[in-house]
Amino acid sequence: ASQLTVQLTVNGQPKTLTVDPRTTLLDALREHLHLTGTKKGCDHGQCGACTVHVNGRRVNSCLSLLAMHEGEEVTTIEGLGQPGRLHPMQQAFVEHDGYQCGYCTSGQIMSATALLKEPWGPDDADVKEAMAGNICRCGAYPNIVAAIQQVRK
Ligand code: FES
Repeated sequence: ASQLTVQLTVNGQPKTLTVDPRTTLLDALREHLHLTGTKKGCDHGQCGACTVHVNGRRVNSCLSLLAMHEGEEVTTIEGLGQPGRLHPMQQAFVEHDGYQCGYCTSGQIMSATALLKEPWGPDDADVKEAMAGNICRCGAYPNIVAAIQQVRK
């Protein structure tokens, strides 16, 4: 099969990838760049485990082809904090036990941090609605909401 070369920035570093044109952004991150913090849950846009930032906005990376991101800036959970220091949202999830098994956590945190830049209501119900695309099978929602609310205050 023919291959496609895509240049983009991932966690602040320029990357050039040569892949099958059908490669999703999720598979490019995990299989080609070995950034396995981004998780594959449903692979169909239903669970949010694969959420990353593209040019600062949240994207379900399983639904997006790498080829669509030429020249764009992608941030994954690995690039969210500073070296040796967690992002405040990561710290809040630790403090509030915002996870049980942890599989959805990267996506939850990437979604929540992207939302910090958008206007949304102040109540817990507003947080739940804004985060509705990120499913937690363990049901850690109360702690996830508490973590997000701490960072928003
Ligand atoms: Fe992408 Fe579930 S793996 S939304």
